[in-house]
Amino acid sequence: GDVVALVPAAGKGLRLGYDEPKAFVCLGTDSLLTRSVDGLRASGAVDRIVVIVPAELLDAARGHVSDDVTVVAGGLERTDSVRAGLAAVGDAAVVLVHDAARALTPPTLIARVVAEVRAGRSAVIPVLPVVDTIKEVDIMGAVVGTPDRASLRSVQTPQGFDAHVLRRAYDAATDSSTDDAGLVERIGETVHTIVGDALAFKITTPHDLLLAQALL
Ligand code: CTP
Ligand code: MG
Repeated sequence: GDVVALVPAAGKGLRLGYDEPKAFVCLGTDSLLTRSVDGLRASGAVDRIVVIVPAELLDAARGHVSDDVTVVAGGLERTDSVRAGLAAVGDAAVVLVHDAARALTPPTLIARVVAEVRAGRSAVIPVLPVVDTIKEVDIMGAVVGTPDRASLRSVQTPQGFDAHVLRRAYDAATDSSTDDAGLVERIGETVHTIVGDALAFKITTPHDLLLAQALL
């Protein structure tokens, strides 16, 4: 496939606090994992999908996705999981990385990210303005600084990349990052932002899951 989507779903979901890992939690009738994969497919912009799940749930995961989806085992950090997924990508011009936890992401947003990469951007991320003031604090909780909110953005997925650029970023990575674009920034490539969507929020806490249920 020309466009391959990686779906990191190998986290524990500690902040959500369920017994099962977050991607396997149900939102209505379908799991977050199933919904995220369905959204990627509905975008019409993705040729192949690779999901990355906890090693002990490889078999269980196959019950959440159709047979044409590749399922691989993830690692300790999100960066390790995406790296494992990248190894299963094979030939691709564009690689998307999309959190299973962003289960309500509109397919139109996914298609917009792919279109921007196809138009020549090396790296594309959906972002929204930050609504709260953000403080930097030290380990004691004392405020160290207040960055100007106007220049801050909250970052979503899917993040889209020229496949060569993402591979180079992961080859060069010595540390982990909470997002893939962070690794691309470190190799000096420009990361382009587009306007994200409130529905692409990450289900992280019980409050987020309640919100998602209300939005169904
Ligand atoms: N993820 C992953 N592998 C990891 C850690 C996270 O594939 N080792 C995935 C999660 O499954 C999720 C996405 O990355 O789809 C975003 O991570 P996050 O929201 O932090 O999910 P969890 O790590 O599962 O949650 P928590 O941090 O609360 O434990
Ligand atoms: Mg996490």
